[in-house]
Amino acid sequence: MILETDKPGLRLRHWQIADKASLVEQANNRKIWRNLTDTFPSPYTETDADFWIAHANRPTRSLHLAIELQGRAVGAIGVIAGEGVYQRTGKFGYWLGEAFWGQGIVTAAGRALVAQLRLSREFARLEAPVFAWNPASMRVLEKLGFEREGLLRASVCKDGELIDSVLYALLIPGEP
Ligand SMILES: CC(C)(COP(=O)(O)OP(=O)(O)OC[C@H]1O[C@@H](n2cnc3c(N)ncnc32)[C@H](O)[C@@H]1OP(=O)(O)O)[C@@H](O)C(=O)NCCC(=O)NCCS
Repeated sequence: MILETDKPGLRLRHWQIADKASLVEQANNRKIWRNLTDTFPSPYTETDADFWIAHANRPTRSLHLAIELQGRAVGAIGVIAGEGVYQRTGKFGYWLGEAFWGQGIVTAAGRALVAQLRLSREFARLEAPVFAWNPASMRVLEKLGFEREGLLRASVCKDGELIDSVLYALLIPGEP
């Protein structure tokens, strides 16, 4: 799958073995780790990159794409499919290499992925819990049309701190 964005040189595509060096370079960053769940490793090694590229390409209802900028994988975006009663809920997530922050890249990437998910109607609901210390990510979600549904008090233990998180969600009407 290739999803074009409205930014020149920016598109979403499946992860490739050749992305390994760039993935380690961008992902091995505590500022990124600090805003993600603990399944994201720190330090981020070549073994972690091998695991991720294989995992991301397994055929499941989840979708894990690379954010490609001028031919280079500089971040990740995707949706993790819920199971059982949560089968129509997708957990929406992303990260971007620090060198590329503040240029509207994840907003453009997110717009492309949301448009695709609206077409597929695989999910009725996309949700994203954001750590309370991450206003940039909240802003991205707001720009994508997600609504703030609530404050989950003392819900997250990260980097030695117990913090709140904020739940954002976007509804996708219609049948699959
Ligand atoms: C959060 C993250 C994805 C943002 O990516 P990005 O490409 O820099 O985001 P964009 O440039 O598209 O948009 C960022 C928005 O946040 C705003 N912003 C940045 N820092 C901010 C802050 N401290 N307070 C409030 N808003 C802030 C920007 O001004 C911009 O909004 P604007 O377009 O209205 O001006 C990126 O910083 C990242 O990967 N962080 C680490 C991992 C992470 O947090 N993942 C999400 C977990 S929920």
